[in-house]
Amino acid sequence: MSFHAIDQAPARLNRSELAVPGSQPQMFEKAAQSDVDVIFLDLEDAVAPDEKAQARKNIIKALNEIDWGTKTMSIRINGLDTHYMYRDVVDVVEQAGERLDLIMIPKVGTAADVYAIDMIVTQIEDAMGLKKRIGFEHIIETALGMQNVSEIAAASKRNESLHFGVADYAASTRARTTIIGGVNPDYSVLTDPDANNARETHWGDMWHYALARMVVAARANGLRPIDGPFGDFQDPDGYRAAAKRAAVLGCEGKWAIHPSQVALANEVMSPSEAEVTKAERILAAMAEAEAAGKGAVSLDGRLIDYASIRQAEVLVEKARQIAAG
Ligand code: GLV
Ligand code: MG
Repeated sequence: MSFHAIDQAPARLNRSELAVPGSQPQMFEKAAQSDVDVIFLDLEDAVAPDEKAQARKNIIKALNEIDWGTKTMSIRINGLDTHYMYRDVVDVVEQAGERLDLIMIPKVGTAADVYAIDMIVTQIEDAMGLKKRIGFEHIIETALGMQNVSEIAAASKRNESLHFGVADYAASTRARTTIIGGVNPDYSVLTDPDANNARETHWGDMWHYALARMVVAARANGLRPIDGPFGDFQDPDGYRAAAKRAAVLGCEGKWAIHPSQVALANEVMSPSEAEVTKAERILAAMAEAEAAGKGAVSLDGRLIDYASIRQAEVLVEKARQIAAG
């Protein structure tokens, strides 16, 4: 390991994160009853400009009055380029800061954006005597944010997670896309002709680089990388495929923009029983190897070593969190 130690964000389950518009209070109870890990009550893009003030009031009331159980509660504030943002932070943290766990900052572009919100939140927490420190989740969804993703990830001790906001990212980079988080057949490889002169088209994942880049910045700073929205909520298979790709790259959660996507996210982002059993066997085999003075052994015909232990420990710890959750 490097001499540079990485502090890990507080351990939270973040397999699924449900977006709930602050202007739709009739949706709040259902969200509170769901199996989702994190809920963000939205003040930004799902709320029309003339509904922002009422949405803020709805959220404050709901945070104070609804029984959200053990769910992690977040609000998505408006961007720093709008005049809504300061009231989002001041009103909600002052009036409902006790039940608020996280603030989601959209379209974050630079480390200074994070610094600015940190300063405001710190003042409010101090003034209100709040004991719990509110964490930050950042949506990486602009070209600027992606360019500065490493600095953003390191910009505050409040940082907990980075989220890939594919819809705004597409708009910002002018990517050619139709469905939020979906793929585009134009992003494909045409194979060379085979012996029969046949060629195949292999679709690619146009979001691969962006997501992988964000995962690296998140993990290098001890944060959770979370994949963002998948717009077609009538396509569970498409959602599952996108979530699996994200999980394979290291993401530990995905947004749900519809309640039906919560179970899909929880399913894909939880280790399977077989994976947990295998991890436990790896840990047992390595403990035995260590007792015998060996650094590597084979299990089921495959080499395992200290790197296998670290992977297995992560998996077993995640299973423990889910069981406790
Ligand atoms: C989320 O905010 C997105 O733009 O995808
Ligand atoms: Mg967005």
